Amino acid sequence: MSQKIVLAYSGGLDTSVAIHWMREKYGVDIVTLTLDVGQADDLAQIATKSKDVGAVSHHTLDVKREFVEDYVFPSIKANGLYEWKYPVSTALARPLIARKLVDLAHKEGAVGVAHGCTGKGNDQVRFEVAVKSYDPALKIIAPAREWNLSREEEIQYAEEHGIPVPVDLGNPYSVDQNLWGRSIECGALENPETEPPPEVYEWTSPPEKTPDKPEYVKIEFDNGVPVALNGKRAGPVEIIRDLNFIGGKHGVGRIDHIEDRLVGIKSREVYECPAATILIEAHRELEKTVLTRHELSFKHYVDKEWAQLVYTGLWNDPLREALDAFIEKTQERVVGQVRLKIFKGTVQVVGRNSPLSLYESNLATYTSASTFDQSWSNGFIEIWAMPTVLANAQKRLAQSKFLSRPQEKAQTA
Ligand code: ARG
Repeated sequence: MSQKIVLAYSGGLDTSVAIHWMREKYGVDIVTLTLDVGQADDLAQIATKSKDVGAVSHHTLDVKREFVEDYVFPSIKANGLYEWKYPVSTALARPLIARKLVDLAHKEGAVGVAHGCTGKGNDQVRFEVAVKSYDPALKIIAPAREWNLSREEEIQYAEEHGIPVPVDLGNPYSVDQNLWGRSIECGALENPETEPPPEVYEWTSPPEKTPDKPEYVKIEFDNGVPVALNGKRAGPVEIIRDLNFIGGKHGVGRIDHIEDRLVGIKSREVYECPAATILIEAHRELEKTVLTRHELSFKHYVDKEWAQLVYTGLWNDPLREALDAFIEKTQERVVGQVRLKIFKGTVQVVGRNSPLSLYESNLATYTSASTFDQSWSNGFIEIWAMPTVLANAQKRLAQSKFLSRPQEKAQTA
């Protein structure tokens, strides 16, 4: 009996060629696994294709809820944005896919796992670090990194071996999508000077063609995560789906930036992340309402580190759990409602309220209702200014000594 390899199978050309290529090169049996993370592909068709191309068996797993609860929700709590822009959507799904690959490999008695990533991206690193941290004894095969085929050669290989070549072969873009976002790379996007052509966008309308009336949404948070939309309680997957739809309709969530890949390359990345853009904006604003400025200032660094860790494939590093422990503690008080106005590609928080709000209107008001005694500020300013005033006095003294030395004065003149 041949040894088995479990392949993360998307149904695309690379992973289809990979089935055939690994069987030929290594004489192994290929078991394929496709996870439903909300990518909206035809999963039944993918299952059929896998068998047609030569897999011994195929598995499909719906992990949408697990993806949202265990990966997306922690990311909302951490305001997860890599380089303050990218909601790490692709990055978040990788450790989950790796987990399921390893589980299936164990169940099937497979000797290893395989993925379709190239040697230039982040995803190879994310998959492999995660797989190794779950089971370092498993072999990992990355055919697309090994086979050294150009695009043309790959297509020729597919044609020669009866592997169906996608009809949209002329489509130059490389796309990855899940509930948290859609990533588009390659083709015209490789020129960072040019605006992304309209056809790269699928989830979002161009802002110039969106409704002329703004739409308001109200999101309720409990423990740092969304639990209701417009007054209706909804499941995690449902809330994200609905917000992708609403945001997309108004052109919200288009991201175009230069991103620093883990392998040192700067790349031009385009994303559509309507729900992520709306939810992170709302969550941050609610945090500002309920957390102290000291907590906010420290959490800013924690959030940055968190996104970086996830982006760079270190989901399983103990640091992530440690950061999550801090974040989790702060989220106990992130409870309340945020109202947002969505219009022509923009999303703006226009209202917030929380039973745990630290906003005191009697302190903030300029009316006669104010309970803030302005005379407190005199003493406060004396003390607050002290180090800065002293340092400036020192500086003036040093300058006057320097200027009173005649030779040095001549030199500087
Ligand atoms: N640059 C993003 C990341 O590293 C997205 C990569 C997704 N791949 C793709 N073929 N579009 O997370």
